[in-house]
Amino acid sequence: MSEGEFEKVQQAARLIEGRTTLRPRIGLVLGSGLGAFADGLEDATAIPYQQIPHFPVSTAVGHAGRLVVGQCAKISVAVMQGRVHFYEGYSLREVTFPIRVLGALGIRALVFTNAAGGINRKLRARGLLLIRDHLNFQGSNPLLGANDERFGPRFPDMTEAYSKKFRTTAKQVARKLRLRLFEGVYAALHGPSYETPAEIRALARLGADVVGMSTVPEVIVANHMGIEVLGISCVTNMAAGISKKKINHDEVLEAGERVSRQFTAFLRALIPALVRATK
Ligand code: HPA
Repeated sequence: MSEGEFEKVQQAARLIEGRTTLRPRIGLVLGSGLGAFADGLEDATAIPYQQIPHFPVSTAVGHAGRLVVGQCAKISVAVMQGRVHFYEGYSLREVTFPIRVLGALGIRALVFTNAAGGINRKLRARGLLLIRDHLNFQGSNPLLGANDERFGPRFPDMTEAYSKKFRTTAKQVARKLRLRLFEGVYAALHGPSYETPAEIRALARLGADVVGMSTVPEVIVANHMGIEVLGISCVTNMAAGISKKKINHDEVLEAGERVSRQFTAFLRALIPALVRATK
């Protein structure tokens, strides 16, 4: 950890705490085309990332770039409407800085969402997948460099990076809503180019069910801080070569927006259930 990072995180957290009296218990990160949930929060305060000290600013289309603190079913939540990615040129430390800040706000549970390409042929575009585990193919790790023990240990365990208890809860909630929810492994690649069919065949052999360009560094940092994690991928397209169709970002966003009503209903039901299940 570079010198002063802990203090920078504290500065960012203090600014957020100065803008709202709510003290969020749970955090959410909304991926490409999935930002609508934040618009339905009660008592909401939205803070553009530019106004938060040291926060990276998202450049990807489909990412609003603001932190919304509000209430969902009377539970205070902090929602990142948009994230930054490794492919935007930020270091993984910068990419994961907001997760450190959410930790400093006292959040003990985090829900990560993303758009992903479907590798497993049982998946369908526009389906939802609960992330059971991940493969880090970004070729780097956000914890590289000196470790600051105030954040967490040098060698964090990743055996249950995605909380089993949270996954059980998510499956129960999905069943109640009659929502199809697959469970599987998310592989994170660098991007920004989409994968080749050969890469997708290789990933399938290595056990990946979906592929995307985010989430994994953030999940590593959340685990480093002892925050319990749930991950949900929205399968916006079938991966290269699985479907003959070419992949384009506008379609990814459109597919995300098309599931957004269903997705928002799922998140709204999920949040109280996760709070009940939190350690
Ligand atoms: N590959 C990588 N990232 C993605 C995809 C994909 O097919 N779809 C949405 N994000």
